[in-house]
Parts: sequence; C-alpha cells; structure tokens
Amino acid sequence: MPEERRIALSYLGRVEPGSIDDYIAAGGYAALKAALARQPDELVAELSASGLRGRGGAGFPTGRKERSTAQACEECDCYVVCNADEGEPGTFKDRVIMEGEPHVLVEGMIIAAYAIGAGAGYIYIRGEYSRSIELVGKAIADARQGGFLGKNLLGSGYSFDIELRRGAGSYLCGEELTLLESLEGKRGYPRIKPPFPAEVGYRGTPTLVSNVETFANLPFIAERGAEAYLALGTPSSPGTKIFCLSGDVEKPGFVEVEFGTSLRSLVEDFAGGVRGGGRPLAVLLGGAAGTFVPGEDLDLPMDFDGLRKLGLTLGSGAVMVLGPRRSLSAMISSMMDFFRHESCGKCIPCRVGTHRLARAAARLVETPKAERKMLLGSMVAEARLMASTSLCPLGQSPVLPLESAFARLQDSL
Ligand SMILES: Cc1cc2nc3c(=O)[nH]c(=O)nc-3n(C[C@H](O)[C@H](O)[C@H](O)COP(=O)(O)O)c2cc1C
Ligand code: SF4
Repeated sequence: MPEERRIALSYLGRVEPGSIDDYIAAGGYAALKAALARQPDELVAELSASGLRGRGGAGFPTGRKERSTAQACEECDCYVVCNADEGEPGTFKDRVIMEGEPHVLVEGMIIAAYAIGAGAGYIYIRGEYSRSIELVGKAIADARQGGFLGKNLLGSGYSFDIELRRGAGSYLCGEELTLLESLEGKRGYPRIKPPFPAEVGYRGTPTLVSNVETFANLPFIAERGAEAYLALGTPSSPGTKIFCLSGDVEKPGFVEVEFGTSLRSLVEDFAGGVRGGGRPLAVLLGGAAGTFVPGEDLDLPMDFDGLRKLGLTLGSGAVMVLGPRRSLSAMISSMMDFFRHESCGKCIPCRVGTHRLARAAARLVETPKAERKMLLGSMVAEARLMASTSLCPLGQSPVLPLESAFARLQDSL
C-alpha cells in the first residue's frame, strides 16, 4: 500500500491550528527567511524548475504564471490573490489546509509575492467556511504582529500585506476572472479571456491568482529546492496532491499522496473500499466539472497528463465513489441541476442550455432504460454546442461528465 506523503498538510496534527508559536517551533517561516535571502528572479527560477502545477483544477504550471506576472510587475504595481473559494462539489482540501494550519498558506503567499514583486495580496475565501475565515484571519494578524507581514518585513526592506475577503456563495466566482470582478466589488460576471490575470488582473494590474493548495506547496520548494520536489510524483506532475474521498466509501476523508498513486489505491486502501462491499458503479473525478470512470477501470495513475490522455480530468482532486446500487442517471440529473443553478445567465447558450440539459437529465431518470442511451447522446450533442458557443468555462463544463458517461458508462444508465 502506498504511503501518505504530506507537503501542504505537513503541519497537520503536529501543531495547534493557527498558533504562530507552534508553527515557528515546528519549522514554519524558515522557508520565508530562506526565500528573502535570495533574489526574486532566482526564486521565480526555482519555483519554475520545480514543475509545480496549479491545484485549482486546470494544472497550469505555476512557475510560468509567476514568470509572466513578475515581468509585467516590473512596470507597475501588482497583486497576489489566493483563490480560497472552493466551490467545486466534492472538494474540501483547501478547507483542510486552512483549518489544519493556516500559516502555511500565509507563508506561501508571502513567498510568491516576494518572488514576483507584489505589494499587496488578497485571500478570497468561501463565505460558508466560518472556521477557516476565523483561523486565516488570526494567522494574518499574528503574522503581521510577528513581523512576517507589513512594512519592511523581517527587516528585508520588502513590504507586503494580505487582506481577507469573503465570497458570497457563487460557484462561478471561483473562476479567476469572475473572482477578480467580485473582489473589485462588482457583480460576479466573467471577463473575456485573454487578457489573463497575469497581464490585466485586479484593478487592471498584473495579478497572480493561485489556489490555496498551490501556495501551500511553495514553502517546501523555497526551502528544500526544486530537486527535492521533482523527486516526488511523476515527471509531468511532480510533488503531492490532496485527494478528497467521498461518496459510498467506508472511510470518507482526505489524503495527501504523491502524484501517480493509482485511483484503486485511493478508493480501496485510503477510503476503505465501497461501503457495504462490492465494486463501485463509477467514480467521478474532479467534481461537477469532472469525468466519470467505470468501476472496473480503477488502475489509473492519478496525474494531470496521464488522465488527460485518456480524456479524463484530475481537476481539483475530488474522488466521488458511486456504489453499485446508485443511479448514474440520477447523479447526472443532480449535476445538470447544479449547472443550471450556477449559470450566471450572461450569455444565451449557457443560460438556455443549462436549463435544457437539466430538463433532459430529469427525463433521463424517468425514461425506460433502453431509451436512455439515445437521450444521453442528444444531451452530449447539445452540451458540445453549448461548450463551443459559451462565453466562459462554466458553459464548457457540463460536456465533460456527459461525454465521459456516454463513452464509458452507457450500459450503467
Ligand atoms: C466555474 C469555475 C469555478 C472555479 N472554482 C475554483 C475554486 O473554487 N477554487 C480554485 O482554486 N479554482 C477554481 N477555478 C479555477 C480558477 O479559475 C483558476 O484556474 C485557479 O484559481 C488558478 O489557480 P492554480 O493555478 O493554483 O490552479 C474555477 C474555474 C471555473 C471555470
Ligand atoms: S457560460 Fe454561463 S456562466 Fe459563463 S458567462 Fe455564459 S451564462 Fe455566465
């Protein structure tokens, strides 16, 4: 059985969550000191060399984003924004980080900010996460008090501070450009991409937007170097990943393991297998904007590119198990309802398309089994059309679970 390997969660259970004294005693903020002793461009090079990929869902190389933001920052003020909105169904890893040891996020953000030359940062946090809000707020205040944030931090000559902002329950506001609109106090409508946040972000200035788990990996890289990071995981997805294990399993929860760990191991070893025994009907990877894997295909290495080659998604790390007695059609119906509810209505293909898909999915549940395949096929065609004409990635998401169910699970409808 593969072992857990903790980086983002390395302090979990070892310290009193939110206690800066415990965090420092356990080795916290040593990475920041090491980072401040280096030139910012050296640090960007180290972070790029580590191959770290964003943990918010898309797996985009973080170093590449930092490099382009740093270049744009040379000419104007710029910002670092942490995406802590965590709205993807089945995903709760950022909450575990923030409630387990919020200082690792604060430290990671300061390191990223120093590397790119940002003067201010924001954490946009899911409004329902009251405990996370409390702990992250306290961690920011204690870090400021301890000289790790604010003017001339740790006597380095560098100044940076962080402000906490609460989201208001919109899934779409987790999308980075929509998040920036909301952060600016505007309605959560998406912006057209490009330009990307690295060019035109918060208040029109270059902004690095990264996920909580992404930032929580930075102290390790800054302190131990890219080589140590590359020694973990797979060549194209180095390091570790927190997976959220939920659904019909014996032991729902979370686990941080090296990339490349098999899906079977996550389901059978870490989640204890299907509740009540038997083989899963399917596993949904990556949440509502994710893909279904049939229960007989669990021998898949969990890394970004390996899954992508198979037309699957790793996404945010959600692993939702459907037991043998679940109805796949009912699951699809609930997912289409979710998209209908979360569509912002700005563009017609998604505003109308999500309603039509939700109605069709409700019919799928009631349709005789023999006719479900045909109905799902027509839903896939509609979702493809919607994906190619919608304004933002939300409208491009329903096609993912629908296509994967159509390709691999027609007989389980
Ligand atoms: C509809 C939608 C919702 C999203 N929600 C989140 C979220 O809750 N948290 C997150 O980190 N990224 C979310 N993302 C991805 C962000 O747009 C962005 O890619 C991410 O914050 C970049 O961080 P990373 O490079 O560290 O992954 C969402 C994307 C879409 C399209
Ligand atoms: S695709 Fe959907 S969520 Fe995105 S802008 Fe259009 S209506 Fe809004």
